[in-house]
Parts: sequence; structure tokens; C-alpha cells
Amino acid sequence: MTTTVIRVDPTHPDPAALAPAAQCLARGGLVAFPTETVYGLGAHALDPEAVMRLFAAKARPANDPVIVHLATLKDVVALVSWLPSVVTALAERFWPGPLTLVLPKSAAVPVQVTAGLDAVAVRIPAHPVAQALIRLAGVPVAAPSANLFSRPSPTLAAHVLEDLDGRIDLLVDGGATRVGVESTVLDLAHGVPTVLRWGAVSLEELRRVLPDARAGVNHARPASETAPQPAPGMLAKHYSPRTPLVLYEGAPDAVMRRLATDVEFEVSAGRRVGVVVADEDTVRAAPAGVRLVRLGPGHDSGAVAHELFAALRGLDIAGVDVIMVRGFPATDALGLAIQDRLRRAAVRIVTCEHDLTSP
Ligand code: TXA
Ligand code: MG
Repeated sequence: MTTTVIRVDPTHPDPAALAPAAQCLARGGLVAFPTETVYGLGAHALDPEAVMRLFAAKARPANDPVIVHLATLKDVVALVSWLPSVVTALAERFWPGPLTLVLPKSAAVPVQVTAGLDAVAVRIPAHPVAQALIRLAGVPVAAPSANLFSRPSPTLAAHVLEDLDGRIDLLVDGGATRVGVESTVLDLAHGVPTVLRWGAVSLEELRRVLPDARAGVNHARPASETAPQPAPGMLAKHYSPRTPLVLYEGAPDAVMRRLATDVEFEVSAGRRVGVVVADEDTVRAAPAGVRLVRLGPGHDSGAVAHELFAALRGLDIAGVDVIMVRGFPATDALGLAIQDRLRRAAVRIVTCEHDLTSP
């Protein structure tokens, strides 16, 4: 299979340029496209064979359900067995945008989409290209992130090609995604509204509409292979570069001291090291063999989220032997999302003195 790339204007995509992508989706093909969070890999959500091809292209296990992307709130109705009344208020406040709602599914949703669960995840993305594409296709679009399973989500079209060139029909290139980490996932199908994954929408914001919303049980715990998962698909090992990643959490000065020692050790052992830090971090004169990446000001979670996955993919390509990352403060929604993704990407978490990154 050859993957065709269509370049479009991210803010005013030309419908004529998008038409082949929309037709491809409607006919059961696989199309990657930008959303405001990360690139998604789309398939006709009501076509079980298209959804199975989607799982195959990503090498995604069948027990990991996917999000259905829609153009308007009206489109949700056909996919759910009942619509919790709060959805209207949530939609008014957060849609289109980086919030996914898990709702009781209707019979119209194929079991492949929900991995056999009784609920379906839906989202109305804000990106003009995603909006236009879904409208033109005229079908609900199942779209996990457009990466090979367990790798960092793509925030550039080039990342999609790294993983999926030759495995999908089409890629719509709309430039860099704005947010950089995946949507907040809120479960409304199983009693107390529960956040299953952190993204740009915070618990505080959700509580203004839904006062009893709560964080998922595992939200701030370090990744571990044995820990129970809050939901299918919330796997501990995820969002990972191919290179082993070590995460350093704690007070920034303690973290930077420990990082410097570990970098020196790795370099003296002849290994190449990738180091990921904030703009303000002082890194001792980097010896040869060290590749330094700065993500932005440490407290600017928006800047850090925007750069995070690109940095991890870049260090994979640079061919380093180990990636060392400093933890970032989890003081807002994106900070929590960054902490969560880094903990899942890490093979090891080193805690340096007292931990200031925990809420
Ligand atoms: O921002 C995003 O959400 C991106 C863009 C493309 O929209 N999509 C994305 O999809 O991150 P994916 O498949 O990589 O992650 C979907 C998450 C998984 O953690 C999955 O477990 C959860 O949503 N999910 C999907 N359907 C679910 C369901 N029926 N019940 C509970 N969780 C579900
Ligand atoms: Mg994903």
C-alpha cells in the first residue's frame, strides 16, 4: 500500500483538497488527520471491517477501545443508548475541544470500536481540518492516535509517516498540533463521573459543570506493570520511545544534580545519552555523546506539552542509548497529563529528595 499525503491549510482547509480523504473514509479506508491534541488515524466507525483494519495498521491489541470523533452534538445521539442530561452542559462548555466522554453505547456501535465494553467514547474535535473532514465524510470516525501501538502520539505529519507509511491509505498534513497531548477522558457511563485520562481539560473545570466529577483511582501513581488499570487501554507501558527512558522526579535542583551524575556515568561507560530538561535548567557543560533537548519554561505546561512527544521521537531518531527526562510540575491539567505520559513512557522512575511534582 502507498500512503498518499495531502497538504492542507490548517485553519482554512480547502474542501476540494479534503474530498478524496473524506471519500476514502466513507468507503472504509484509513486516513490520518490532525486534531487539536494529536494526529488521529481515522476509520468509518460503523464499518467493522474498516475498524479491524485500523487496529491491524496500528498493531493495536483488540482489547483497547477507540474514540469515535463526530462533528456535532446531534451526532452523539445515534451512538448512545441514553444521553446523560449533563452532556448538553459539558458540550456547551468543552466542545468542540480536547474532552472525550465515555457514554452508554447503542447497538449501532460495532463491538470492535468499544472492545466489547458497554460504553463508547466520543469526542468533537476543534481542529478545523478534523471538523471539515468529519463533516465531508458524513460518518462517525473512529480515531485512536495515529502511531504504532505504545509509541508516543504524533504531533507532526512526519511522526505519522515514521510509524504508518505504507500501512494507511492517506495522511492529511495540517502542520503541528496545538495541544500536543491527548484529550481528557471522562467516564459518564458508570456511576460517579470519573476522569480516566488527563488532558488539557482539568478536573476543576469539569467540576464547575459536574460538581461530583472525580479523578480516576490511579491518576497520580507511578507506572507499574502489575498495578490494576482503571480502564481497558489505560496500559502502564505507553507513549514510549524505543529508547529506554528514565524519569527523574523531585525538587528541580536535586533532580539536576542526580541527572548530571547519571549522565557522567553513562558517558564514561561509552553510551550516548539524550537529556530532556526545561529552558531554565542549568546543565553542566554537556560532554560529547550527550544530546540536550529543552522543552520550554518548566512551569509553562502548554509549551512543554506541545514539544514533549516530538522530543522523544527526535531522540529515538538521533540513536541515543538512553533518554533521561526531568519531571515537570503537575500543578495544572496539562502538567498532570505530562506527568502521566512520562510515567507511562519510563522504564524507571528515580525520585530525588522530596517530590514536589505530586499534587
Ligand atoms: O486526543 C485524543 O483523544 C486523540 C485524538 C486523535 O482524538 N485520540 C486518542 O485515542 O488519544 P487513543 O485511542 O490513543 O486513546 C483512547 C483512550 C484510551 O486510553 C482508551 O482506553 C480510552 O480512550 N477509551 C476509548 N474508548 C473507551 C471506552 N469505551 N471506555 C473507556 N475508555 C475508553
Ligand atoms: Mg494512543
